[in-house]
Amino acid sequence: MISLTIDDKRVEVEEGSTILQAAEKLGIHIPTLCHHKSLAPYGACRLCLVELGGPRPMLQASCVFPAQEGLAVQTATERVLRTRKVMMELLLARCPEVPRIQEMARELGVEESRFPKKEDDCILCGLCVRVCEEKMGVGAIDFVGRGTEKSIAPAYDKYSAKCIVCGACKVVCPIETVDLARITDKEPRPIRSEFDMGLGLRPSIYIPYPQAVPRAAVIDPETCIHFRSGVDGVCKSCVNFCDAGAIDYEQADETQELRPISQRGLQPRVRAHSLC
Ligand code: FES
Repeated sequence: MISLTIDDKRVEVEEGSTILQAAEKLGIHIPTLCHHKSLAPYGACRLCLVELGGPRPMLQASCVFPAQEGLAVQTATERVLRTRKVMMELLLARCPEVPRIQEMARELGVEESRFPKKEDDCILCGLCVRVCEEKMGVGAIDFVGRGTEKSIAPAYDKYSAKCIVCGACKVVCPIETVDLARITDKEPRPIRSEFDMGLGLRPSIYIPYPQAVPRAAVIDPETCIHFRSGVDGVCKSCVNFCDAGAIDYEQADETQELRPISQRGLQPRVRAHSLC
């Protein structure tokens, strides 16, 4: 284990953890945009900057910087807050009309951007590209162009034949601006809830119905990308979000016959009333 301090609070984390993970363990909030629990750190948005102590304090992106023994980290010094604001101004200048960016700018105290405005709706965090490649093993989209012309698109800017319309790119987009119609001409297939006779939708991992006994979540192998692909490394994103570590891809369906309590040799409980 590695021991470090964040905002003067001591924390212990496993080797290989990042400063962001250590801060999460302490319940310290650090703003992020390009970070996702399921994906390798990338360090694109620079909103998660923190200041590392030492003879020459320096700013580092907490989502990529590894926790180190004895490190002293400050998450809200004047320098950190000022630099985060500049980063936010750059994002706001790029996507001035995107509600999530406007909201985050307000949270960080940025009212206006001093930089020339663009009318974009992508912050180039690369989450969509990474989830498609790293988790789905598809690679239907990628960065194209350079410098100010850089953007995200399918190859040759044509509809991708590889896209499996899983919607992962849309789900991970931190500013909710991915439009599947720009990537593929295939129709998304919403998953209808059997319990609601198809009137409602459900995800691939779900509790079958509100009164289910036991009230436990199940994975639908017909729609889960991991099971459908048949490839061991594909997706498995739910593992990163289940703090209880309860996801088991090997578990098979089984039918259990439950006998009523009266047949299990248990005595019904009798409550004694005092009548005196
Ligand atoms: Fe760390 Fe974007 S969240 S650089």
